[in-house]
Amino acid sequence: MKLSGQIEFKFKNMEAYLHVLSPQGVTREYVDGLNRERLFLETKPDTASLASQMEYVRGIEEDSARVICGLWCGGELIATAGGQRLNAAGAEVPTIGIFIFNETFRGQGWGKVLVWAMCHFLVNELGVASVQAAMKKENLSSKGSFLRVGFEVISQDALYHYLELKAKNLVQPDEVVS
Ligand SMILES: CC(C)(COP(=O)(O)OP(=O)(O)OC[C@H]1O[C@@H](n2cnc3c(N)ncnc32)[C@H](O)[C@@H]1OP(=O)(O)O)[C@@H](O)C(=O)NCCC(=O)NCCS
Repeated sequence: MKLSGQIEFKFKNMEAYLHVLSPQGVTREYVDGLNRERLFLETKPDTASLASQMEYVRGIEEDSARVICGLWCGGELIATAGGQRLNAAGAEVPTIGIFIFNETFRGQGWGKVLVWAMCHFLVNELGVASVQAAMKKENLSSKGSFLRVGFEVISQDALYHYLELKAKNLVQPDEVVS
């Protein structure tokens, strides 16, 4: 899905923005991050290349049910958030997934900022009323990123927690100035 909107803000005094990622926006850092990630990314290829990831992003651009956004900090693409129209059960509820490429950017609050910015974007650009997400139970930083901005746990099974945000409950993180 191609959308032209952008969410601009400062986080801990750093300039940041989120908007739709184009195939030309795919970077080596993104691809290297995918190839390093072993634990929690469920839909990633065994080995990504610049060309295969550009093709993946091009496919999303042409799909009216999916969107992928990039998060830029100081002009550098540091993370992506992917959204799709249907949840895991096939219901018409937008769901999102998040990924910060480099471990050095993790654990500083960027995860919750990424979730906030993506949800803000989906609410503003697509007018969504709720958003869902799922993560492995042991993925505490992912779960924390969603809980901190207003998501609530709605169900669980042996492996996963399932969370939902009502758009009116979206909370802007304290350190974000928009
Ligand atoms: C998931 C991911 C985006 C989280 O990003 P992050 O920058 O590490 O997360 P944050 O620093 O914003 O942490 C968010 C909250 O989780 C909580 N948290 C983080 N690690 C935690 C831990 N080990 N135990 C308990 N809570 C934790 C923190 O309290 C934090 O909130 P706070 O800053 O208000 O205290 C990042 O770790 C990542 O890209 N991981 C690999 C891919 C992945 O797992 N994607 C999600 C798939 S479902």
